[in-house]
Amino acid sequence: MPEVLIDRSLKAAIDGVAGTFATVDDAETLALQSDIAAPLRAHPQWLMLCRTLSSFIDDRGYVVVRGLEPDEGRSLLVLASVLKATFDTYKPGKIVKHFRMSPWTTELSHTTRAGDFHTDGNISTTPPFATAMQCEHEDPGAPEYAEQRVVFLPDLLERLGSLDRIDTDALCFLTEEEVAMTHERAAAVWRGRLVQGDTIRYHPHSLRMADMRLGLARPNLESIIASIHRAALDASTPFHTGPGDTVLVSNRTALHYRGACSVRFVRFPAEFESRSLYVLHMKDPVV
Ligand SMILES: [Fe+2]
Repeated sequence: MPEVLIDRSLKAAIDGVAGTFATVDDAETLALQSDIAAPLRAHPQWLMLCRTLSSFIDDRGYVVVRGLEPDEGRSLLVLASVLKATFDTYKPGKIVKHFRMSPWTTELSHTTRAGDFHTDGNISTTPPFATAMQCEHEDPGAPEYAEQRVVFLPDLLERLGSLDRIDTDALCFLTEEEVAMTHERAAAVWRGRLVQGDTIRYHPHSLRMADMRLGLARPNLESIIASIHRAALDASTPFHTGPGDTVLVSNRTALHYRGACSVRFVRFPAEFESRSLYVLHMKDPVV
């Protein structure tokens, strides 16, 4: 597992920086203007952490960082600055999104249903460079629920290339065919090859939506999606995150996944405990 445990003294240093911001809004404002982790630059352990996390992301497509505590996204902003990229905003000045799983929604980001291996922002011209996710509340049914996985593109392609014909079909679908993706809220349709060089963009939901909107009715789409899912399961390792644990994942060289989530009702139907997390995206690295 590409996993790093932050020790107490480094945690204290990170918390020291995160704690200087009265609100997450303040942290976001600074993160958009300058290096939010600048006070840590003289800290040898921080510099070592930066190198370790960068090499895990380069070599494995992701890393799980343990030992932090959830603080509404402040330490997530500090940690994500390791990626040496620009913070992406979802509306002016806002970087950190908060998602809480709900049994009463079909929205992909917070439904309790199992997700698919996917990349984020897959129909944009330039998808995010990376995704950073910090657990706030663990799933009440963990570890049976909320399993997470990341599959590194080279491992996925190797797995698909090593099996029977249907997997070869999936390999061709990913690497050779021109396909289309869109989603409910997008007027545009993205078209192109899903794997280009050492990068991938992929979301089964977006493929299905484009197939429906364009009336393609591709007969083997579901079997190819299922084949890619099986290969991704085979080529990845399950993990769980507790409060404060943070996953940094390349959104270009890896697909991420989470399994079905659970809820524990305090008072049906409106009051329940469920998994929640903070999510942010990074744009291309600063050059
Ligand atoms: Fe995602």
